[in-house]
Amino acid sequence: MSILQNVSIKELNTFGLNIQSSYFTSIHDVSEIHSVLHSKECIGKKYMILGGGSNVLFIHDFEGLILRNELRGIHIVNEDENYVWVKVASGEVWHELVLWSIDRNLGGIENLSLIPGSVGAGPMQNIGAYGVELKDVFYELEAMNLKTFEMETFSKLDCKFGYRESVFKHEFKDQYFISSVTFQLNKNPRINISYGAISQELRKMVVGNPTVKDVSDAVIHIRKSKLPDPKILGNSGSFFKNPEIETEQFNSLKENFPAIVGYPLPNNKMKLAAGWLIEQCGWKGKRIGETGSHKDQALVLVNYGNATGNEIYALALQIKQSVFEKFGVVIEPEVNIIGIIS
Ligand code: EPU
Repeated sequence: MSILQNVSIKELNTFGLNIQSSYFTSIHDVSEIHSVLHSKECIGKKYMILGGGSNVLFIHDFEGLILRNELRGIHIVNEDENYVWVKVASGEVWHELVLWSIDRNLGGIENLSLIPGSVGAGPMQNIGAYGVELKDVFYELEAMNLKTFEMETFSKLDCKFGYRESVFKHEFKDQYFISSVTFQLNKNPRINISYGAISQELRKMVVGNPTVKDVSDAVIHIRKSKLPDPKILGNSGSFFKNPEIETEQFNSLKENFPAIVGYPLPNNKMKLAAGWLIEQCGWKGKRIGETGSHKDQALVLVNYGNATGNEIYALALQIKQSVFEKFGVVIEPEVNIIGIIS
């Protein structure tokens, strides 16, 4: 374990921002955390844990220590006639885990194919796509309490999962290092193609009785067709969450904007498609300097090469303001913004 100084993390954040971190180290075993945080260089310094870097926007250089999570390992820890419990180290790449499960014809995470980022970031924001959320297959996780350096186990209930939400984004923010996540995968996969775009894609692929591999291929195809590849164009997926509003407000918006896109939620609320709202404000495909809203998905903000975190953040604020002015709806970032005092 070595602690490096003044390291660029350009390759370690999917926005591709050339951010310098004053200190940097890689963690290969959870037991290293205590000694790093108590080392003479880093004791008392601000620090953060970085997984795949796919959901962060750094506003400026990081004056502190970045711990890059390099924990690896995928192990079956239990099995019965219907399910397999798989314990996965938090530094594993999420999509590699999806491919691992598809190779074994285990069902549950095929709809979450190609989501960038690490396994540990999954429960943090309850990643979701195409009708499935991580919580649907989550069994438990292990995390180190960063005050006591003790390991703790969190059940599904303990994590308080919501739409792109968990306890780790709120009351336990920055207080735990998630070291492993255990998933309950199905030996007799039940395919979920309720999301319209998947069934359409499968029809195009002429697949009658889809397997988990077919669903994964369909999802990969859809994502590639509208979401930019961060290796080519820096981005962090959806920048904003889809906002939830009261059905009453939705109905009155519908009178003025009949094409508005919304999905009913159980609690007399509606979830609006933020991409639609942003597109209606004229942002889709619009470039401002080195940043902009993507041409195929307005919800995705991109770095054309030399953007700064500040520039992207300024654009996000402008978009948020214009959506509020036109629709009276507040949209909030899904991405973690580092360097803003909240
Ligand atoms: N739409 C527009 N214009 C746009 C983008 C979208 O009008 O520029 C409309 C579309 O017509 C569609 C609706 O918005 O009717 C929904 O669009 P889409 O299916 O692309 O999904 P989304 O709501 O924009 C969410 C997730 C994505 C996830 C997809 C598929 C959030 C914030 N985003 O996007 O997750 O892949 O659904 O399930 O919930 C991510 O979190 O980074 C992410 C990419």
